[in-house]
Amino acid sequence: MRNRVISGKTLICGVIGDPIEHTMSPVMHNAAFSELGIDYVYLPFRVRKEELGKAIAGARALNLAGLNVTIPHKVSVISFLDELDPLAEKIGAVNTIVNDNGVFRGYNTDATGFLQALLDKGVKPEDKKVVILGAGGASRGISFILAESGANLVILNRQLEMGWAENLAREISQAFEKETKALELNDENLAMVLEGVDILVNSTSVGMSPDIDETPVPARLLKSTPVVFDIVYNPIQTRLRREAQAAGAKTISGLDMLAWQGALAFEKWTGLKAPLELMKKEAIKVLEGEN
Ligand code: ATR
Repeated sequence: MRNRVISGKTLICGVIGDPIEHTMSPVMHNAAFSELGIDYVYLPFRVRKEELGKAIAGARALNLAGLNVTIPHKVSVISFLDELDPLAEKIGAVNTIVNDNGVFRGYNTDATGFLQALLDKGVKPEDKKVVILGAGGASRGISFILAESGANLVILNRQLEMGWAENLAREISQAFEKETKALELNDENLAMVLEGVDILVNSTSVGMSPDIDETPVPARLLKSTPVVFDIVYNPIQTRLRREAQAAGAKTISGLDMLAWQGALAFEKWTGLKAPLELMKKEAIKVLEGEN
């Protein structure tokens, strides 16, 4: 670890969540602050659900420069903020807070980070047919930003009976005047919707460590799927990406989304361009150390 001096002028950022032990953000941001030689530090804060209001009041009182927000607070934190970025408002979730001279403003860099990771790999979503697996928190951000970018979406979710996928599809249809369908995630529907698809996004947790032998899509259905984005980043190489690559697809890792969401938050707090590759490398070191 590099030596660094905390002074009376050091600005403090952090992440609030519960649990928080597995967050990659402190490693990514502290490396980025050191790299740019700026006087910031980034800390993890375990904040229980029922303490969220107090935590945000505390962050105000302590004049923290910025926060990331993770599970389980991404939705509930909104009621404690002063302003919301319009995209975060549509999504209904915030993962980044900027303290702008005492005004706490919420953003969703999970969504913008996903889009940047896609664009970075030369994939433009406009007018593309996109199949999204999952209808949870991550899927909401991804679905909204893809729709806003002009993609045509189909959402597949394991449980339809809870109504999450249908609600999300309805919200998107209304917000962007784009007919968006929700279907049950099963092999028959996958076979149907993957016909002629441009981009497949896995926004479920299927394939995540320790269940690394699982995949949400059987390999035989990946024959004509040119781009596969798997938001799972642990393991770095998922079974879905391995099988998609074997079938000739370009694949994008959840690690790129992780690094980009961090980089975009960093830029909002510091006003400086984030060292994206360094942040990604630091996250890889942690993941390789864990596995
Ligand atoms: P996140 O914030 O990461 O999106 P989440 O809101 O809990 O987490 O959403 C997890 C998503 O993964 C959901 O869409 C969930 O599907 P259900 O709504 O049917 O629960 C999906 N998911 C989790 N495990 C799954 C599995 N084994 N098969 C299919 N989908 C799964």
